[in-house]
Amino acid sequence: MAAINDSDAERYQKWYDPDLEEVNPQIRHLLETYSNIRPADVVSHVNKIRARGFAANPYPCIGNYRFLNLTLLTHPLYKSIISKLQSNSFAIYLDLGCCFGQDLRQLVLDGVPSSQLVGLDIEGPLMDLGYELFRDRGTVESKFVVVDIFQGEAQGEPWTELVAKGADVVHCSAFFHLFPLALQVDAAKVISRVVRKGGIIVGRQSGSVKPAEVPAIKAGTTSFRHDLNTLAEMWENVGMETGTKWKVDGSLDEVGLQTKIKNAVEDENSRRLLFTITRVE
Ligand SMILES: C[S@@+](CC[C@H](N)C(=O)[O-])C[C@H]1O[C@@H](n2cnc3c(N)ncnc32)[C@H](O)[C@@H]1O
Repeated sequence: MAAINDSDAERYQKWYDPDLEEVNPQIRHLLETYSNIRPADVVSHVNKIRARGFAANPYPCIGNYRFLNLTLLTHPLYKSIISKLQSNSFAIYLDLGCCFGQDLRQLVLDGVPSSQLVGLDIEGPLMDLGYELFRDRGTVESKFVVVDIFQGEAQGEPWTELVAKGADVVHCSAFFHLFPLALQVDAAKVISRVVRKGGIIVGRQSGSVKPAEVPAIKAGTTSFRHDLNTLAEMWENVGMETGTKWKVDGSLDEVGLQTKIKNAVEDENSRRLLFTITRVE
């Protein structure tokens, strides 16, 4: 992210919550069992990593601890994603915008070979902090690769290598909603080239009952919040422009939005958008 000026720094503090005194049971379980962190040390460990992550990249999902919500775990296809990956050792899962790689680690805990899982993010320092959060630098076999999705094939390897192999599951949570609609289309076109026929793109992001461009994290920029209709329209256009075809399923709900009234990022139209986008052609 570009240099942070004083007014940006003040804005970012709006979504920097006070240190936590407890974490949710799912992430506690992951940190205690996968990472072998002593129960008494879990909260202070998380608080320290959150502070360092926010200094590297002041995203709301880091400042407000949303990265502790293992959302892939709540996706209706979670169990079938595990089976898909376990039943075929060539099946590949990409976690685009993986941040610390929390959902990827949950898959490993749930029995998916880590060598089939790849974390992708534009911010190498966040993926690096993921090794510290989960204390698995020497054990996890997943690759964590710095990519800028907007560069697509122009960035050469390893992106071109990923496209050549293809992916069966692409997890993209809290990712598309960072960008205005035109850039979401650009990103979707790049992603469309990596997903194998029959493959899926799954995730959750900020949605809205009134789809529109809204002010984004960086002052003066916008990001588009979808409902299911605008999401389906976007993928229909992506399909037409790329010679592919997609089926969009999902739901808008209020999970995780209880604090929306005092939240600096959401408004009364905000909803959680949970989606599955299947490549049918
Ligand atoms: C809001 S965070 C979401 C992290 C995680 N998926 C989650 O649900 O908690 C968005 C992530 O996308 C990454 N990102 C932003 N722009 C990107 C780009 N152009 N290419 C790849 N990753 C990008 C950010 O660095 C950040 O880690």
